[in-house]
Amino acid sequence: MLKDELLGKIANCRLCGLCEGRTNVVPGDGSWDADVFFVGEGPGRDEDLQGKPFVGAAGRLLTEMIESIGMSRDEVFITNVVKCRPPSNRDPLPDEVRSCRPYLDEQIKIIKPKLIVTLGRHSMGHFLPGLKISEVHGQPKRATGIWQDRQVFLPLYHPAVALYDSRKKDVLFEDFEMIPLILKKLNESS
Ligand code: URA
Repeated sequence: MLKDELLGKIANCRLCGLCEGRTNVVPGDGSWDADVFFVGEGPGRDEDLQGKPFVGAAGRLLTEMIESIGMSRDEVFITNVVKCRPPSNRDPLPDEVRSCRPYLDEQIKIIKPKLIVTLGRHSMGHFLPGLKISEVHGQPKRATGIWQDRQVFLPLYHPAVALYDSRKKDVLFEDFEMIPLILKKLNESS
């Protein structure tokens, strides 16, 4: 599928109940040629209003972390497991995730990132089920199942957690430093 066709499908999507409450769909933002692909959980209030991912307080921290490793938001791709805001920022329900999954799969197929960075437990569980984020954050992983052999995954804490916990914020900034190291390794071996 081509990018514009995919964006059209996402924009008009009515596959689950989240479409009823949305102001805007939040398909994702950044470079469609990115090496690094960030996946959060779902849009919050600010994201729903602007139609862009990670533009609220957690988003500002994410931008700061991306810039701390010498990259910019323009050269990475940022999206979420679900593209519409769950009411009151609750976790997306399994059938909402199931309905939205083809869009994420298709984005990954088109962009072909080298590294997929999962933000938070929920996003990690989508690709790397059964792991505990407190045990594996900051460690590059290969996925199993349909994701096998395609990309390297880096599970990280969600930036929203770091807004209220300065120790987690330090851990996140440290874990972020893995991103250029993993890219360098992948580039050397390709
Ligand atoms: N939290 C997320 O998981 N995604 C966003 O886009 C914003 C906040």
